[in-house]
Amino acid sequence: MLKTHNCGELRAEHAGQQVTLAGWVHRWRDQGGLIFWDVRDRWGITQITINQETTPDVHAKAKEVRSEWVVQITGNVIRRPDGMNNPDLATGDIEIEVTGLEVLNPAKTPPFYINKDENVEEQLRMRYRYLDLRRPKMKSNIVLRHEAIRFIRNYLGDRGFVEIETPILFKTTPEGARDYLVPSRVHPGKFYALPQSPQQLKQLLMVAGYERYFQVARCFRDEDQRGDRQPEFTQLDLEMSFITREDILDLIEGLMTSLVEEVSDMELITKPFPRLSHDDAMARYGTDKPDLRYGMEIVDISQLAGQTEFRVFTSNVEAGNPVRALCVPGCGSYSRKQIGELEDIAKEHGAKGLATMAVENAETGEVRSSIAKFFTEDQIKALIAQIEAQTGDLLLFVSDTVGVVCSALDALRREMARRLELADPNQLAFCWVLDFPLFEWNEDETRWDPSHHLFTAPMWEDVAYLDTDPGKARGQQYDLSCNGNEVAGGSIRIHNRAIQEKIFGLIGLDIDVAKERFGHMLEAFEFGTPPHGGIASGLDRLIMLLAKEPNIREVIAFPKTQNAADLMAGAPSEAEDKQLEELHIRLVE
Ligand code: AMO
Ligand code: AMP
Repeated sequence: MLKTHNCGELRAEHAGQQVTLAGWVHRWRDQGGLIFWDVRDRWGITQITINQETTPDVHAKAKEVRSEWVVQITGNVIRRPDGMNNPDLATGDIEIEVTGLEVLNPAKTPPFYINKDENVEEQLRMRYRYLDLRRPKMKSNIVLRHEAIRFIRNYLGDRGFVEIETPILFKTTPEGARDYLVPSRVHPGKFYALPQSPQQLKQLLMVAGYERYFQVARCFRDEDQRGDRQPEFTQLDLEMSFITREDILDLIEGLMTSLVEEVSDMELITKPFPRLSHDDAMARYGTDKPDLRYGMEIVDISQLAGQTEFRVFTSNVEAGNPVRALCVPGCGSYSRKQIGELEDIAKEHGAKGLATMAVENAETGEVRSSIAKFFTEDQIKALIAQIEAQTGDLLLFVSDTVGVVCSALDALRREMARRLELADPNQLAFCWVLDFPLFEWNEDETRWDPSHHLFTAPMWEDVAYLDTDPGKARGQQYDLSCNGNEVAGGSIRIHNRAIQEKIFGLIGLDIDVAKERFGHMLEAFEFGTPPHGGIASGLDRLIMLLAKEPNIREVIAFPKTQNAADLMAGAPSEAEDKQLEELHIRLVE
């Protein structure tokens, strides 16, 4: 070892010892006769001093050294003089008086500060990710990730789960995104698909009799990137046999609760996790991944609004569409400009407008609003009572199809929570969303799409709807959301060939195509498949929440950019002609 101790380890009781440390020069201060360095390694930072009087040779050498040089120093641990202690540093009670210095490797000036937590342009961070990862904040995120995964492995291992690796070169495993394809050299014209998830393989492991499987699994999805999405990401993937939905919910609730308590300092405010039906979540929050750290629920006022003289509302209600409202506390004084900003948000989500009402006096029913003239005094009072609005509140109304109303009010609810700082950044609020519809109608393709995936079982009592009214069938699906993020999703699966074939038919998959793609699943179902189900949690999203980071790139060592590129290595990159030829590929200009 080139060091006797690490840079996070020395305390007052080490005073008097001779030690050798090695690491990077984090900060340096040259005070003439005395040079101060903060030396950094994986574990922390230690202050060292180099004295010209006592060690002139070392001092002369040290004068050349700059930030991020790699050094090895030997010296004596001394207590810092009273009043000079640094309580922000674990090693803040001591410093090292250096007697020997070895420069292990000099460094160019880094393109951004490693020793300051300042906003560095994302492109630059990605280009020099290995330097970005040196920053203490990134290091603690990556180590937290390790701790979380280690905890999860032990938790599941202790409960009889077996970790099994499944192939990356496989066949299409659809989860609603495009596949990444890998051309085969030895099978001209044929391609592997990278798994969008290990879904089929984990089900086949249930057929194989493993009963409790898990994997820290890499998944690949070619889809548009957002802050909470990466083209490759990691799932905690698991599957169990001979269980009901309740068993999965219990397991995951226990796991998440212990995880938060063990590896983070976040406060878990929903214990036990509340359970919302999909309908309920959509009605109250406008989304299937609600943020429950704050209230501000959506209220349906269709009945009342339908009786007013406001044409927009009455015509929508006649058409069977809802009118829904959000009551924003204390924003009754919003200016025309501020309301215009909110209207823009509603319009970005498809709404044709945003009606508003400032509650000037909740007792008397006095409001400021361009649509008040279409309401009677009693209607306004009834509205205020139904919404439970207070004096000074701002009411926002959207009327349109259910989808548009939900999407617009969800966006407004999140925006207002952000402006009013309603969500406590130190809290986590998990909740289950259950009873999803099995299918969503795809207007463009005029067919049903699975709301979760192809293999999700309908509620057993809804199986008959598959023949009569597929839109009514509910799926045995469950999603876990936390602070407005979907952090896990799963389902009880179909384990019967006839039902699986029926689902293929409903989503418009030709039976021959279905057999070509999923014949192995259909066949397996005929060899004694146990009832089974499972779930997968987006580990990146989960760790992002535990680390209080705004996007998953902050908790992935080498993430891709918004347009799926690796700026450090320059991927994707062109292939050589010879490689293309071997792969039987010709590029189209
Ligand atoms: P699903 O597609 O819901 O389910 O994925 C499970 C969880 O994975 C995370 N996730 C992502 N994280 C980062 N980047 C992405 N592009 C991305 N896509 C999804 C989310 C999500 O909740 N096979 C099923 C699971 C099952 O049924 O057991 C599946 O993959 O947090
Ligand atoms: P108008 O009568 O069209 O001028 O609309 C009066 C108010 O209602 C304006 O503030 C509009 O933004 C709003 N508005 C228009 N269409 C809708 C709608 N579908 N839902 C909610 N408010 C609307």
